[in-house]
Amino acid sequence: MSDAAQVLERCAELGAISEEEGVLVRRFGTPAMRRANELVGRWMREAGLTVREDAVGNLIGRRGDGPAFMLGSHLDTVRDAGRYDGPLGVLVALAAVERTETPVEVVGFADEEGLRFGTAYLGSAAMVGRFDPAWLERTDEDGVALTDLLSAPPPPGDPPLGYAEVHIEQGPVLEQLGEPLGAVTAIAGQSHARVTFAGEAGHAGTVPMDARHDALAGAAEWVLAVEAAGGTVGRLTVEPGARNVIPAVATLSLDVRDADDRARLDAVAALRARAGEIAARRGLRLAWEDTGDIPAVQMDERLTELLGAGLPRLASGAGHDAAMMASVAPAAMLFVRCRGGVSHHPDESVEEADVAAAIDALERFLRAL
Ligand code: HGY
Ligand code: MN
Ligand code: MN
Repeated sequence: MSDAAQVLERCAELGAISEEEGVLVRRFGTPAMRRANELVGRWMREAGLTVREDAVGNLIGRRGDGPAFMLGSHLDTVRDAGRYDGPLGVLVALAAVERTETPVEVVGFADEEGLRFGTAYLGSAAMVGRFDPAWLERTDEDGVALTDLLSAPPPPGDPPLGYAEVHIEQGPVLEQLGEPLGAVTAIAGQSHARVTFAGEAGHAGTVPMDARHDALAGAAEWVLAVEAAGGTVGRLTVEPGARNVIPAVATLSLDVRDADDRARLDAVAALRARAGEIAARRGLRLAWEDTGDIPAVQMDERLTELLGAGLPRLASGAGHDAAMMASVAPAAMLFVRCRGGVSHHPDESVEEADVAAAIDALERFLRAL
């Protein structure tokens, strides 16, 4: 079996490890993540690496002593995920490492997506000393507090000599160019917020339209403004949530991205002002909680040249652990074409030949370091 075929087979095996039947979801700190670490840890040991987990559950396979270069990606997923977002990068790294003798670490980060506690890059943030102690107060949808899993902010690891991450592009550019691989120039910055519109519950059949303070109607107006600004509302909850009751409370998540931090911050400020204007006009109360502000990160030019000389270059709108690792070491990313740019969806798909090209590129990179 070719190395690429083995990577695809392993992504399928790993993709069957989920918290739920029939849907791929593997959140931070769950038994499914434990099972994923056991499986990938076995593959790392079979590749001759010594394996350990750090305080937050990042899985780290190492060859050699002293400071080493780090390769990897994340092993957690979003809900109803595809099998390649994260795992492909860990398993391509392992395949390239098996072909070389370079002292190296391969990491499977414990939480990049933040699905369970709404955090950003929890695994790599812990590794580089940027774990936010305020995260410890967060609770998941079942009311489990992060402090139930982690009693204190974890100690940072030793910085690697550098970091390289292979990841599916999660966009259509490489497919449109007819290219299997691309080199990442920068990772977009992100702003996250939790926004609540609060109005007045009332009888859907009797309260006149001009007397209503409908929280959902106000939120809906704002969602269209978010869309017009290029942002995303991925989650919206309504209370009390009954057919015949005028919504009293609407709580929304906001996600705004841009490779230019000034443009991103200006867009968020304008959306916050617009939310205030909508609330005032509709007699609603507005609550705004900033839950994430992650600056854009440029990839290291020398490493990018080594990783992807002559490859098409593109910025990443998606966030990656490389954005955190770049705060302590030079970092670079290699994108792999994915069908239709589909990601965060079970239809995520890559070609074996493209995976083979990624393993070859990473092997050349390790030999050139
Ligand atoms: O949100 C992101 O861009 C990444 O998938 N966590
Ligand atoms: Mn990812
Ligand atoms: Mn993702």
